[in-house]
Amino acid sequence: MISPVPVIAIDGPSASGKGTVAKLVAQKLGFHYLDSGSIYRTIAYTSHQQNISWNNEIMLIKILEKAVLSFKNDQILLNGKDVSEAIRTEEAGRGASEVAVHKKLRAAILGFQRDFEKSPGLVSEGRDMASVVFPHACMKIFLTASTQIRAERRYKQLISKGNSVNMDSVLDEIILRDERDLKREISPLLKTEDAIEIDTDTLSISDAVDKITHLYSLKSQTS
Ligand code: C5P
Repeated sequence: MISPVPVIAIDGPSASGKGTVAKLVAQKLGFHYLDSGSIYRTIAYTSHQQNISWNNEIMLIKILEKAVLSFKNDQILLNGKDVSEAIRTEEAGRGASEVAVHKKLRAAILGFQRDFEKSPGLVSEGRDMASVVFPHACMKIFLTASTQIRAERRYKQLISKGNSVNMDSVLDEIILRDERDLKREISPLLKTEDAIEIDTDTLSISDAVDKITHLYSLKSQTS
């Protein structure tokens, strides 16, 4: 499929920095932005609120069908209510990775994600942006960082938000999430053959953003 709209697909493991980087790349290029993880997080959060198990695929799909999910500036609205903070907890993240294993649920989310592909362009981030949702993306980035560095980042982020956590449990959670995202049968986290890998261990957020926008400007000159 040849898309007239440029899509930059950014995938990577938890706490690789892809959320912040993708948002800034979108701002810099004046493109739309899709944080696909927030969809899975919202489903996990809502099902937890309604005492519905993360294993109950049929009920999770029902939740999705009833939910009106929208993005407004930096806010994620569920039926008009701001859930941006509520879905950022470690529990919602764990739930997201549990609901994300369901094949029919993932299929039901596909169209919603693809609707973000609008002029003048889209920067989307997640686990399967390059492999499944936007396989025709004009640029595919795989953002990585070592497990230790990612755990340190997540730890600092949680502490700065006033959470009481310890480093060992944050590290364990990252390892568990990686395992689940890499090993699941449907749409696992993977680096596609045509993706450019960027390791952010020693790269600042702004360096990563500059690198991606530079690569994109080179790409647009040659295509
Ligand atoms: O990116 P974020 O940490 O918000 O994603 C939460 C979880 O949602 C991930 O651990 C992953 O299991 C799931 N996810 C996914 N596919 C995506 C985005 C997120 O399976 N495209």
